[in-house]
Amino acid sequence: MTKIFVNIGLSLDGYMAPEGMDIAHWGTPDHKNWGAKWGTLMSWVLKQQYFRELLKFGPGGETGEVNDMLRHTLERSGANIMGKRMFDQGAISWPEEAPFHTPVYVLTHEKREPWVRPGGTTFYFVNDGPESALEQARASAGDRDIRISGGADVVQQYLSMGVVDELEIALAPILFGGGQRLFASPQNSVPQFRIDKVLHTPDVTHLRYVRA
Ligand SMILES: NC(=O)c1ccc[n+]([C@@H]2O[C@H](COP(=O)([O-])OP(=O)(O)OC[C@H]3O[C@@H](n4cnc5c(N)ncnc54)[C@H](OP(=O)(O)O)[C@@H]3O)[C@@H](O)[C@H]2O)c1
Repeated sequence: MTKIFVNIGLSLDGYMAPEGMDIAHWGTPDHKNWGAKWGTLMSWVLKQQYFRELLKFGPGGETGEVNDMLRHTLERSGANIMGKRMFDQGAISWPEEAPFHTPVYVLTHEKREPWVRPGGTTFYFVNDGPESALEQARASAGDRDIRISGGADVVQQYLSMGVVDELEIALAPILFGGGQRLFASPQNSVPQFRIDKVLHTPDVTHLRYVRA
C-alpha cells in the first residue's frame, strides 16, 4: 500500500532552512551566513556516492548504510509533492536532469504549464490545494510511495491533514537561530508517531518515526 512520507534535514533548533535563504539572496550565501548553515545541514548528503551520482557530481563518495538509505528513499518514491519556494530554489540549482525521476506536484498560486525535464521528472503546478496534489500524486505513484519533499510550509500542511505515515528526519548538530521552522504551528490533528529507527553518524542523527 502506498505510504506518504516526509524525509528532510532539520537543525537542532527545528529549522528546515536558515534565515536569509531565499530566492532574493541565492547569489549571496554570506547573507546572514545562510550558505554555511545550509552546507552544514546537508554536508552528509553531499558525501554519499548515490547522491553524487544523482546530481552528477562525479565519481567517489561514501558507501554503506547511509548511502543505501538514501538510495532507498529515492527508489521508493513514485511521486513528490513540494512547495513553490522549494521549487524556485531548486529550479535554478538542480541539474537539467532534476533529481526526482517522478512526477512532482508543486503547490502554488501560480498558473503554469507542466515543466518536463529529461530523465522522467515532470513538474505539475497545482493551484487547488494539498488534497488535490495528493490525489494526483496517488494516481501517478502506482504501488510506490509519495514523498512530501518540503519545505516547512508544505510539510506542515500534510502533517495537519493527518495523512503522513512516516517522518524521517536527519537532525544536524547546528543551531540556526531562525528561519523556516518545521513545527511552527502544530495542530491538534497532527498524528502521533513512534520511533522506528535511529542511526547515529558523526554528521547527523537519522531519526525514523512511523504512525503510532
Ligand atoms: N531541510 C530540508 O530537508 C528542506 C527540504 C525542502 C526544502 N527546504 C528549504 O525550505 C525552504 C522552503 O520552505 P518554505 O516553508 O519557505 O516554503 P515551501 O513550502 O517550499 O513553499 C511555500 C509556498 O508554496 C506555495 N503554496 C504552499 N501551499 C500552498 C497551497 N495550499 N496552495 C497554493 N500555494 C501553496 C506558496 O507559494 P506561492 O503563493 O508563491 O505560489 C507558498 O508560499 C527553502 O529554503 C528550501 O530550500 C529544506
